[in-house]
Amino acid sequence: MVRTHTCGELRLSNVGQTVTLAGWVQRTRDKGSVLWIDLRDRYGITQLLLEEGKTETSLLEKARQAGREFVLQVTGEVIERLSKNDKIPTGEIEISVKKIDILNPAKLPPFTIEDDTDGGDDLRMKYRYLDLRRNIVREKLQLRHKMAQQTRAYLDAQQFIEVETPVLIKSTPEGARDFVVPSRMHAGEFYALPQSPQTFKQLLMVSGFDRYYQIVKCFRDEDLRADRQPEFTQIDCEMAFIEQEDILHTFEGLIRHLFKSVKGIELPAVPRMQYADAMKYYGSDKPDTRFDMRFTELKGEDRDLTSGKNFGVFDAASLVVAIVAKKCSDYTRKQLDELTEFVKRPQVGAKGLVYVQYKTDGSLKSSVDKFYDADALKTWAETCKAEPSDLILILAGETEATRKQMNELRLHVAEQLGLRDKSTFSALWVLDFPLLEWNDETQRYHAMHHPFTSPKKEDMHLLASDPSKVRANAYDMVLNGTEIGGGSIRIHNRDTQQMMFKQLGFTDEEAKKQFGFLMEAFEYGAPPHGGIAFGFDRLCSLFGGSDSIRDFIAFPKNNAGRDMMIDTPSTISEEQLKELSIQIRTK
Ligand code: AMO
Repeated sequence: MVRTHTCGELRLSNVGQTVTLAGWVQRTRDKGSVLWIDLRDRYGITQLLLEEGKTETSLLEKARQAGREFVLQVTGEVIERLSKNDKIPTGEIEISVKKIDILNPAKLPPFTIEDDTDGGDDLRMKYRYLDLRRNIVREKLQLRHKMAQQTRAYLDAQQFIEVETPVLIKSTPEGARDFVVPSRMHAGEFYALPQSPQTFKQLLMVSGFDRYYQIVKCFRDEDLRADRQPEFTQIDCEMAFIEQEDILHTFEGLIRHLFKSVKGIELPAVPRMQYADAMKYYGSDKPDTRFDMRFTELKGEDRDLTSGKNFGVFDAASLVVAIVAKKCSDYTRKQLDELTEFVKRPQVGAKGLVYVQYKTDGSLKSSVDKFYDADALKTWAETCKAEPSDLILILAGETEATRKQMNELRLHVAEQLGLRDKSTFSALWVLDFPLLEWNDETQRYHAMHHPFTSPKKEDMHLLASDPSKVRANAYDMVLNGTEIGGGSIRIHNRDTQQMMFKQLGFTDEEAKKQFGFLMEAFEYGAPPHGGIAFGFDRLCSLFGGSDSIRDFIAFPKNNAGRDMMIDTPSTISEEQLKELSIQIRTK
């Protein structure tokens, strides 16, 4: 037997037993007459003790050769420690070593295998297998494992069945670029890696599977960010004979089950918000609802409290919008300047920031005192439901752009005020997304979700006359301001699907070439159906309290889409290229 116990297992009750452990040397402390080794495995750390006089000299010599990360097998007796360590579960015992074998020596690792490592990102990614030895990284993958297990348990109990769909497919348009794979046997032809199994899960509904899920890799060749990887994992689901309400209910259930079983948190019922309201009151289709700070329009569709006072900026604006930073009326000049600088950054793009300080004594002081008297400021404050000691922050300009800028400011201020605590969770359904969005570059409408999403019945009549006004039966789930899932009720009728493709600028031939199989399937008895997919990596990172999904992926790509460890993407040999009928043109 290589080991009788793990390094996380032994307690006082084991004292007196002879045990064999195996693991890695975390650290060695050599006091001359006494040598301690911390032996680590996946389960914990156990202290080994070797003492001059009590331990054979040859053993001590061997132990002294064992550097950091050497792989050891040791046999010895469990004894009670003289000075106990209450920080680790095995801290009350140690092993008096009787036999030691070096199973494998190790080179000095390029960074310390500690929670607080000295290794930078690149180095840790190059040696990811060493990085994964660190407790805090391993724990993240354990969390991921638990989430996957619990997802399966919940969906299985709800009669969902897991079906694998192919990875070498034909392009599915989800808005990103495809990764493609050249075919050797069919020169000049390519497979595409799935951006999602969207069409396959719909076909499974036509097949009568009724409730499908898959924890599945998806591939998208898009610009990377902290919450985006070129290959990522979805919890992909589809249901037939359902209405939108059934989907919301079932998958709200999944998220609540995950919170309960993985984190012991009782998540309240998930509130719902119309897309239009999310944009109007939060300037985002994924509002962070851990805190309020809703927008108030001082000038907009419903009111105008700012025009006609000779303040050109507000007069010219289609939207003047405010948020209230609670208890911030005493912000210093420097703090206010910092906020102004923030909104003027090119990434945010506002021209300036107006503020009103509602002082504790009830007086109001603003950066636009020249134009607005105390009464006007008071009206603004009342409209925003501000109270003495609050700070009102105002942006103005073109409606859509200003909402986006205010969204950035809202998040920035909330961050500063500590309102975005990673251990607080707030989920939200955003409903009724627009079906289409106009793309200036291509000068045509694109599907906001994907082309299989069904328009709302009551908006169908607008499809020809005012396509941008048509709402879809589409929904997203948002958690702490991150989109963790999205889905829709699908079109299940050939004619509607064909009309949709037409709206999206496909000719009949193009639609037939790309999606003929799906439209044909719709003619063989397609049930009404719909579904959703959750970003599994994102969900894990939020549960783990981290901003980056990379930590929750065993072998992730870096921000440039490279795997530093296996060094890819990389070139392939002339021979391979030839076989694939690919010529690389060099300038
Ligand atoms: P969607 O494109 O909204 O929907 O994707 C579903 C969820 O997947 C996550 N996600 C990502 N996570 C990490 N890296 C990425 N590059 C990435 N892209 C997306 C997000 C997102 O909410 N087929 C539809 C679902 C459906 O209609 O049923 C789809 O893929 O959390």
